[in-house]
Amino acid sequence: MPQLAYVNGQILPLASASLHVEDRGTQFGDAVYEVCAVLNGQILDWQPHVVRLRRNLAELGIVLDIADAPLGLQARRLVARNGYRDAIIYLQVSRGTARRDHAFPARSAANLVMTVRRFDFAQRVRQLTTGIKVITQADNRWGRVDIKTVGLLPNVLAKQAARDAGAFEAWLVAPADGGDVVREGSSTNAWIIKDGQIITHPTGTHILPGIARDSLIRLGQQTQFTVEERPFTLAEALAADEAFLTSTTAPILPVVAIDGQMIGDGKPGPITGRLGRLVWQDVARQVGWRA
Ligand code: PDD
Repeated sequence: MPQLAYVNGQILPLASASLHVEDRGTQFGDAVYEVCAVLNGQILDWQPHVVRLRRNLAELGIVLDIADAPLGLQARRLVARNGYRDAIIYLQVSRGTARRDHAFPARSAANLVMTVRRFDFAQRVRQLTTGIKVITQADNRWGRVDIKTVGLLPNVLAKQAARDAGAFEAWLVAPADGGDVVREGSSTNAWIIKDGQIITHPTGTHILPGIARDSLIRLGQQTQFTVEERPFTLAEALAADEAFLTSTTAPILPVVAIDGQMIGDGKPGPITGRLGRLVWQDVARQVGWRA
């Protein structure tokens, strides 16, 4: 069965699915996107992803002419027709197709595309016991990274620098009064734990408000953990007892080294382990998924 994609109302084989060369997403990065996890054939946290998508569209004045219910229906249909148990679904909405001009076109319909690809979430459960390494890179992105736009060149370069260094992720740091602040990863949110306190950068314009981040804060509130949302420095991260990251494609992964320096004893920490069990139990409860 060929992989299938959705383009403006049609489901097509991925190989023949396309957008116009003058799509504004291609020419200007004038587009927003979402990535959702598909586990056990079901889309996880669809509702918060749609809420975030709508907010981002509103921030940029992009009008998407499809209501939430049919959008959800089309996404679920595409997932079902691709037939993967574990996958990710990618949604992209651009301002539309128009003759190249920086200013918004007077009239253009948004282009909506969705793709689905198989994804091995079981490896993420295995990685809970091994952990991953991160490096740091300067955060040289624009001032509104809370909007999930496809303009990801700084993120792409940072991720590649991590790959070249044999690391999983690059944590983006920015100078501040008390020393470099860790904002987030190139495609993940960043966390540290010190003396039992779980710390992550507050939402605002400097980070993407991650859905996995939100879920973990909520899960923490339901258990004995509280999360302190405040900026933390790279020095704090290096001196932390534990560190981890979260995202849709890496719901929780322990960080065992930053820039080659061990965090704690260089093994995944006990609190991260407990949080990891909570996260995957919650996934199991929601969609009946087992590794
Ligand atoms: N990335 N920060 C950045 C810069 C991100 O790109 C992402 C998500 C996150 C985590 O957000 P969430 O928990 O909603 O996935 C944080 C997606 C997965 C991507 O670009 O592929």
